[in-house]
Amino acid sequence: MIQKKIRKHLSIFRTRLNQKKELERISRYNNTTLNAIVASLSKVKSADFTDEDHQAFQNCENYRTELLRDETLISYEIFGSDKTAMIKDICKNAASGKKWCAFLYLLSKKTNPSDILEIGTNLGISGCYVLESIKKDNMARFITMEGLPQLCKIAGKQFSSIASPSTYDIREGLFDVTFPQLLKQDIFFDLLFIDGNHTKDATIAYFKSLKDKIKPPAIFVFDDINWSPEMKVAWELIKNDSSVNFTIDLYKQGIVIIDEHESEKNVQFALNLAY
Ligand SMILES: C[S@@+](CC[C@H](N)C(=O)[O-])C[C@H]1O[C@@H](n2cnc3c(N)ncnc32)[C@H](O)[C@@H]1O
Repeated sequence: MIQKKIRKHLSIFRTRLNQKKELERISRYNNTTLNAIVASLSKVKSADFTDEDHQAFQNCENYRTELLRDETLISYEIFGSDKTAMIKDICKNAASGKKWCAFLYLLSKKTNPSDILEIGTNLGISGCYVLESIKKDNMARFITMEGLPQLCKIAGKQFSSIASPSTYDIREGLFDVTFPQLLKQDIFFDLLFIDGNHTKDATIAYFKSLKDKIKPPAIFVFDDINWSPEMKVAWELIKNDSSVNFTIDLYKQGIVIIDEHESEKNVQFALNLAY
Protein backbone atom coordinates (compact mmCIF):
# COMPACT_ATOMS: atom_id res chain seq x y z
CA MET A 1 0.00 0.00 0.00
CA ILE A 2 2.70 2.49 1.07
CA GLN A 3 4.92 1.36 -1.81
CA LYS A 4 2.08 1.95 -4.23
CA LYS A 5 1.63 5.50 -2.89
CA ILE A 6 5.37 6.19 -3.14
CA ARG A 7 5.43 4.92 -6.74
CA LYS A 8 2.47 7.17 -7.60
CA HIS A 9 4.12 10.25 -6.04
CA LEU A 10 7.40 9.48 -7.82
CA SER A 11 5.58 9.17 -11.12
CA ILE A 12 3.81 12.52 -10.58
CA PHE A 13 7.14 14.11 -9.63
CA ARG A 14 8.80 12.77 -12.82
CA THR A 15 5.86 13.96 -14.95
CA ARG A 16 6.09 17.46 -13.44
CA LEU A 17 9.85 17.59 -13.98
CA ASN A 18 9.53 16.50 -17.63
CA GLN A 19 6.75 18.99 -18.09
CA LYS A 20 8.94 21.80 -16.81
CA LYS A 21 11.67 20.84 -19.28
CA GLU A 22 9.16 20.68 -22.14
CA LEU A 23 7.78 24.11 -21.26
CA GLU A 24 11.31 25.55 -21.31
CA ARG A 25 11.93 23.92 -24.68
CA ILE A 26 8.65 25.33 -26.06
CA SER A 27 9.42 28.84 -24.84
CA ARG A 28 12.68 28.86 -26.86
CA TYR A 29 10.72 28.75 -30.14
CA ASN A 30 8.78 31.90 -29.30
CA ASN A 31 5.97 30.85 -31.63
CA THR A 32 2.71 32.74 -31.00
CA THR A 33 0.44 29.75 -31.62
CA LEU A 34 2.53 27.41 -29.47
CA ASN A 35 2.48 30.01 -26.70
CA ALA A 36 -1.31 30.36 -26.95
CA ILE A 37 -1.72 26.59 -26.58
CA VAL A 38 0.57 26.50 -23.54
CA ALA A 39 -1.23 29.47 -21.97
CA SER A 40 -4.61 27.74 -22.49
CA LEU A 41 -3.33 24.51 -20.93
CA SER A 42 -1.87 26.37 -18.00
CA LYS A 43 -5.13 28.24 -17.36
CA VAL A 44 -7.12 25.01 -17.37
CA LYS A 45 -4.65 23.36 -14.99
CA SER A 46 -4.72 26.23 -12.52
CA ALA A 47 -8.45 26.91 -13.08
CA ASP A 48 -7.50 30.51 -13.79
CA PHE A 49 -10.79 31.62 -15.36
CA THR A 50 -12.53 34.97 -15.67
CA ASP A 51 -16.13 35.48 -14.54
CA GLU A 52 -17.14 35.34 -18.19
CA ASP A 53 -15.39 31.97 -18.61
CA HIS A 54 -17.06 30.62 -15.48
CA GLN A 55 -20.47 31.70 -16.74
CA ALA A 56 -19.83 30.12 -20.16
CA PHE A 57 -18.73 26.84 -18.56
CA GLN A 58 -21.75 26.86 -16.26
CA ASN A 59 -24.11 27.25 -19.22
CA CYS A 60 -22.50 24.30 -21.01
CA GLU A 61 -22.36 22.12 -17.91
CA ASN A 62 -26.05 22.81 -17.13
CA TYR A 63 -26.81 21.46 -20.59
CA ARG A 64 -24.64 18.39 -19.90
CA THR A 65 -26.50 17.80 -16.61
CA GLU A 66 -29.85 17.86 -18.46
CA LEU A 67 -28.56 15.37 -21.03
CA LEU A 68 -27.24 13.04 -18.34
CA ARG A 69 -30.83 12.66 -17.07
CA ASP A 70 -32.43 12.17 -20.48
CA GLU A 71 -33.60 8.63 -21.25
CA THR A 72 -34.81 9.32 -24.81
CA LEU A 73 -33.67 6.61 -27.21
CA ILE A 74 -31.47 7.49 -30.17
CA SER A 75 -31.46 5.29 -33.27
CA TYR A 76 -28.22 4.35 -35.07
CA GLU A 77 -30.08 3.39 -38.25
CA ILE A 78 -28.06 5.82 -40.38
CA PHE A 79 -24.97 3.69 -39.66
CA GLY A 80 -26.87 0.60 -40.88
CA SER A 81 -27.28 -0.61 -37.29
CA ASP A 82 -30.42 -1.55 -35.35
CA LYS A 83 -28.75 -0.33 -32.15
CA THR A 84 -30.38 2.31 -29.95
CA ALA A 85 -28.90 4.15 -26.98
CA MET A 86 -30.23 6.56 -24.38
CA ILE A 87 -29.14 10.18 -24.58
CA LYS A 88 -27.76 9.99 -21.04
CA ASP A 89 -25.47 7.09 -22.03
CA ILE A 90 -24.35 8.74 -25.27
CA CYS A 91 -23.49 11.85 -23.30
CA LYS A 92 -21.56 9.87 -20.68
CA ASN A 93 -19.62 7.85 -23.26
CA ALA A 94 -18.98 10.21 -26.16
CA ALA A 95 -18.98 13.84 -25.03
CA SER A 96 -15.65 15.47 -24.15
CA GLY A 97 -15.04 16.05 -20.45
CA LYS A 98 -15.25 19.51 -18.90
CA LYS A 99 -11.47 20.00 -18.70
CA TRP A 100 -10.95 19.24 -22.41
CA CYS A 101 -13.89 21.43 -23.38
CA ALA A 102 -12.48 24.28 -21.29
CA PHE A 103 -9.16 23.83 -23.10
CA LEU A 104 -10.89 24.02 -26.50
CA TYR A 105 -12.81 27.11 -25.38
CA LEU A 106 -9.64 28.91 -24.23
CA LEU A 107 -7.71 27.85 -27.31
CA SER A 108 -10.42 29.36 -29.45
CA LYS A 109 -10.60 32.53 -27.36
CA LYS A 110 -6.83 33.03 -27.40
CA THR A 111 -6.24 32.37 -31.09
CA ASN A 112 -9.34 34.16 -32.46
CA PRO A 113 -10.04 31.71 -35.28
CA SER A 114 -12.33 32.88 -38.04
CA ASP A 115 -13.40 29.42 -39.26
CA ILE A 116 -13.68 26.47 -36.92
CA LEU A 117 -14.42 22.92 -38.00
CA GLU A 118 -15.51 20.06 -35.78
CA ILE A 119 -15.79 16.50 -37.09
CA GLY A 120 -18.16 14.79 -34.63
CA THR A 121 -20.89 17.00 -33.14
CA ASN A 122 -22.52 14.31 -31.00
CA LEU A 123 -24.88 16.13 -28.58
CA GLY A 124 -23.05 19.40 -29.09
CA ILE A 125 -21.25 19.65 -25.75
CA SER A 126 -17.85 20.60 -27.19
CA GLY A 127 -19.76 22.67 -29.78
CA CYS A 128 -21.43 24.69 -27.02
CA TYR A 129 -18.01 25.52 -25.58
CA VAL A 130 -16.81 26.58 -29.03
CA LEU A 131 -19.87 28.77 -29.55
CA GLU A 132 -19.47 30.33 -26.10
CA SER A 133 -15.91 31.26 -27.08
CA ILE A 134 -16.92 33.01 -30.32
CA LYS A 135 -20.39 34.33 -29.55
CA LYS A 136 -19.14 37.92 -29.24
CA ASP A 137 -17.07 37.69 -32.42
CA ASN A 138 -19.16 38.71 -35.43
CA MET A 139 -16.69 37.25 -37.92
CA ALA A 140 -16.11 33.74 -36.53
CA ARG A 141 -17.99 30.77 -37.99
CA PHE A 142 -18.33 27.21 -36.70
CA ILE A 143 -19.09 24.17 -38.87
CA THR A 144 -19.72 20.85 -37.15
CA MET A 145 -20.55 17.47 -38.71
CA GLU A 146 -22.66 14.61 -37.41
CA GLY A 147 -24.30 11.49 -38.83
CA LEU A 148 -27.12 10.87 -36.35
CA PRO A 149 -30.10 13.10 -37.27
CA GLN A 150 -31.59 13.12 -33.74
CA LEU A 151 -28.28 14.36 -32.29
CA CYS A 152 -28.09 17.13 -34.88
CA LYS A 153 -31.54 18.30 -33.83
CA ILE A 154 -30.73 18.24 -30.10
CA ALA A 155 -27.38 20.02 -30.58
CA GLY A 156 -29.00 22.58 -32.91
CA LYS A 157 -31.63 23.48 -30.30
CA GLN A 158 -28.92 24.12 -27.69
CA PHE A 159 -26.69 26.03 -30.12
CA SER A 160 -29.59 28.37 -30.93
CA SER A 161 -29.74 29.35 -27.25
CA ILE A 162 -26.08 30.47 -27.37
CA ALA A 163 -25.42 32.11 -30.72
CA SER A 164 -27.18 33.39 -33.81
CA PRO A 165 -27.86 30.71 -36.46
CA SER A 166 -25.52 32.51 -38.87
CA THR A 167 -22.62 31.65 -36.51
CA TYR A 168 -22.90 27.87 -36.82
CA ASP A 169 -23.79 25.20 -39.32
CA ILE A 170 -24.49 21.57 -38.39
CA ARG A 171 -23.77 19.37 -41.41
CA GLU A 172 -26.00 16.35 -41.01
CA GLY A 173 -25.11 13.06 -42.73
CA LEU A 174 -22.49 10.37 -42.96
CA PHE A 175 -18.99 11.85 -43.27
CA ASP A 176 -18.48 9.80 -46.45
CA VAL A 177 -21.09 12.10 -48.00
CA THR A 178 -20.73 15.39 -46.10
CA PHE A 179 -16.92 15.55 -45.97
CA PRO A 180 -16.35 15.54 -49.77
CA GLN A 181 -19.06 18.20 -50.03
CA LEU A 182 -17.28 20.35 -47.44
CA LEU A 183 -13.97 20.04 -49.30
CA LYS A 184 -15.55 21.46 -52.44
CA GLN A 185 -16.45 24.68 -50.63
CA ASP A 186 -14.29 27.75 -50.56
CA ILE A 187 -13.78 27.67 -46.77
CA PHE A 188 -10.41 27.65 -45.05
CA PHE A 189 -10.19 26.73 -41.39
CA ASP A 190 -7.84 27.89 -38.66
CA LEU A 191 -9.05 25.69 -35.78
CA LEU A 192 -10.02 22.07 -36.47
CA PHE A 193 -11.29 19.58 -33.88
CA ILE A 194 -11.21 16.04 -35.27
CA ASP A 195 -13.42 14.02 -32.93
CA GLY A 196 -15.36 11.48 -35.00
CA ASN A 197 -14.72 8.24 -36.83
CA HIS A 198 -11.58 7.27 -34.89
CA THR A 199 -10.09 4.86 -37.39
CA LYS A 200 -6.56 5.14 -38.77
CA ASP A 201 -7.59 5.48 -42.40
CA ALA A 202 -10.34 8.04 -41.77
CA THR A 203 -8.17 10.14 -39.43
CA ILE A 204 -5.29 10.25 -41.91
CA ALA A 205 -7.66 10.94 -44.80
CA TYR A 206 -9.26 13.87 -42.92
CA PHE A 207 -5.84 15.31 -42.13
CA LYS A 208 -4.50 14.92 -45.68
CA SER A 209 -7.56 16.57 -47.22
CA LEU A 210 -7.89 19.29 -44.60
CA LYS A 211 -4.24 20.35 -44.91
CA ASP A 212 -5.30 22.02 -48.15
CA LYS A 213 -8.27 23.68 -46.51
CA ILE A 214 -6.52 25.69 -43.81
CA LYS A 215 -5.56 29.27 -43.19
CA PRO A 216 -2.18 29.12 -41.42
CA PRO A 217 -1.33 29.37 -38.64
CA ALA A 218 -3.82 26.57 -38.15
CA ILE A 219 -4.35 24.29 -35.17
CA PHE A 220 -5.64 20.73 -35.49
CA VAL A 221 -6.84 19.02 -32.32
CA PHE A 222 -7.07 15.25 -32.73
CA ASP A 223 -9.00 13.50 -30.00
CA ASP A 224 -8.30 9.99 -28.70
CA ILE A 225 -4.84 9.61 -30.24
CA ASN A 226 -4.10 6.71 -27.87
CA TRP A 227 -7.57 5.19 -27.95
CA SER A 228 -6.52 2.22 -30.12
CA PRO A 229 -3.37 0.84 -31.80
CA GLU A 230 -4.77 2.21 -35.08
CA MET A 231 -5.11 5.72 -33.67
CA LYS A 232 -1.53 5.55 -32.31
CA VAL A 233 -0.30 4.77 -35.83
CA ALA A 234 -2.40 7.59 -37.29
CA TRP A 235 -0.92 10.04 -34.76
CA GLU A 236 2.65 8.92 -35.56
CA LEU A 237 2.05 9.50 -39.27
CA ILE A 238 0.41 12.89 -38.73
CA LYS A 239 3.17 14.06 -36.35
CA ASN A 240 5.80 13.29 -38.96
CA ASP A 241 3.97 14.72 -41.96
CA SER A 242 6.18 17.17 -43.86
CA SER A 243 3.63 19.99 -43.56
CA VAL A 244 3.66 19.95 -39.76
CA ASN A 245 5.69 22.47 -37.78
CA PHE A 246 4.90 21.59 -34.16
CA THR A 247 2.97 18.91 -32.30
CA ILE A 248 2.03 18.64 -28.65
CA ASP A 249 1.13 15.18 -27.39
CA LEU A 250 -1.33 15.50 -24.50
CA TYR A 251 -1.80 11.73 -24.41
CA LYS A 252 -5.58 11.98 -24.91
CA GLN A 253 -5.35 14.68 -27.57
CA GLY A 254 -2.73 15.49 -30.15
CA ILE A 255 -2.29 19.11 -31.17
CA VAL A 256 -0.81 20.01 -34.55
CA ILE A 257 0.36 23.43 -35.67
CA ILE A 258 0.85 24.29 -39.31
CA ASP A 259 2.37 27.73 -39.56
CA GLU A 260 3.83 28.98 -42.83
CA HIS A 261 5.90 31.64 -41.04
CA GLU A 262 7.78 29.01 -39.08
CA SER A 263 10.86 27.34 -40.57
CA GLU A 264 11.09 24.55 -37.97
CA LYS A 265 9.45 21.28 -38.99
CA ASN A 266 8.16 18.29 -37.02
CA VAL A 267 9.21 19.60 -33.63
CA GLN A 268 7.49 17.36 -31.10
CA PHE A 269 6.53 18.09 -27.51
CA ALA A 270 4.67 16.13 -24.86
CA LEU A 271 2.69 17.82 -22.11
CA ASN A 272 0.11 16.74 -19.60
CA LEU A 273 -3.20 18.36 -18.74
CA ALA A 274 -3.49 16.63 -15.38
CA TYR A 275 -0.27 17.66 -13.57
C1 LIG B 1 -16.81 11.31 -29.92
S1 LIG B 1 -18.31 11.88 -30.60
C2 LIG B 1 -18.05 13.63 -30.67
C3 LIG B 1 -18.10 14.28 -29.31
C4 LIG B 1 -18.22 15.78 -29.33
N1 LIG B 1 -17.18 16.38 -30.15
C5 LIG B 1 -18.11 16.32 -27.92
O1 LIG B 1 -16.99 16.35 -27.40
O2 LIG B 1 -19.12 16.68 -27.32
C6 LIG B 1 -18.18 11.41 -32.30
C7 LIG B 1 -19.46 11.62 -33.10
O3 LIG B 1 -19.12 11.38 -34.47
C8 LIG B 1 -20.23 10.74 -35.11
N2 LIG B 1 -19.70 9.92 -36.21
C9 LIG B 1 -18.75 8.95 -36.13
N3 LIG B 1 -18.49 8.43 -37.34
C10 LIG B 1 -19.29 9.07 -38.21
C11 LIG B 1 -19.49 8.99 -39.63
N4 LIG B 1 -18.78 8.14 -40.37
N5 LIG B 1 -20.38 9.82 -40.20
C12 LIG B 1 -21.09 10.70 -39.45
N6 LIG B 1 -20.96 10.83 -38.11
C13 LIG B 1 -20.08 10.03 -37.49
C14 LIG B 1 -20.85 9.88 -34.01
O4 LIG B 1 -22.22 9.65 -34.29
C15 LIG B 1 -20.59 10.69 -32.75
O5 LIG B 1 -21.73 11.41 -32.38
